[in-house]
Amino acid sequence: MNRSVHPAGVAPGCQFASDNTAGSCPEAWDAIARANEGCVPSYGDDPWTGRACDAIRRLFECDADVFFVFNGTAANSLALAAACQSYHSVVCHELAHVETDECGAPEFFSNGTKVLTAPGADAKLTPAAVAHVVERRRDIHYPKPRALSITQATELSTAYTPAEVAALAEVCRTHGLVLHMDGARFANAVAALDVPPRAITWEAGVDVLCLGGTKNGAGIGEAVVFFRRALADEFAWRCKQAGQLASKMRFLTAPWVGLLDGDAWLRHARHANAAAARLERGLAGVPGVEILGRRQANAVFARLS
Ligand SMILES: Cc1ncc(COP(=O)(O)O)c(C=O)c1O
Repeated sequence: MNRSVHPAGVAPGCQFASDNTAGSCPEAWDAIARANEGCVPSYGDDPWTGRACDAIRRLFECDADVFFVFNGTAANSLALAAACQSYHSVVCHELAHVETDECGAPEFFSNGTKVLTAPGADAKLTPAAVAHVVERRRDIHYPKPRALSITQATELSTAYTPAEVAALAEVCRTHGLVLHMDGARFANAVAALDVPPRAITWEAGVDVLCLGGTKNGAGIGEAVVFFRRALADEFAWRCKQAGQLASKMRFLTAPWVGLLDGDAWLRHARHANAAAARLERGLAGVPGVEILGRRQANAVFARLS
């Protein structure tokens, strides 16, 4: 028997905490090392940033406008601010990261846009729930709904199917809302659904995606991908003012080249989802542990009694 492995098959030092605790993947780390050679133009005018933008456009099979920021809170907040005026509102699930875990940044960066929440099973919104929030008040005294934000994969580790995204996009079209997707774990959703990235984004009606690099192995950094390119107008200035324009941008963008030149992004996401499934199976047999929700991606929720 391999002595470094627990009889239950768990290696010592195995980490069951958040994906935020993991390091960079080798492909990203190696790309950073390669990007460290020599001097290159600053603030995104370097070859690595160009390659990363092209790789993201290839991934989505679409000519999107792409920007890179340091984290998910900035990506979400700035993307929503690009869609909204201060008197607007953003509809999202009551568990959405933009509502519960961003310290009011979406409101702050949009100078007061209000976040309006709706409930929904499995942390997913339905067209009816969104329509209810949008239609319950239309008067001048209420913040005008301007965007819908959905999370893919969701905060409860479920995933919206292409048809579910398309149905929400239809509500957005009816009510004039921009469809924003928080894709901090977008790769895990693609892996879980086994669909091409375009099928759950622009093809289904998503206008802007915050594409997660951090949890996918980049180490640091997210990309803001505008499929509706008019929304990206002056977005670079928004990033700069918010302190999100990296002077040595190559170090933020090289990991994307490592992740996307090849299939590392999908391989790692599939591995993470499979590890979560294995953990879930193992936990299900432990007395006093109740598995919660209907996990599809890489997070397992359980109640211990
Ligand atoms: C659903 C979701 N969105 C966005 C983020 C990004 O947040 P941060 O600003 O910590 O990078 C996270 C991080 O855990 C998340 O779970």
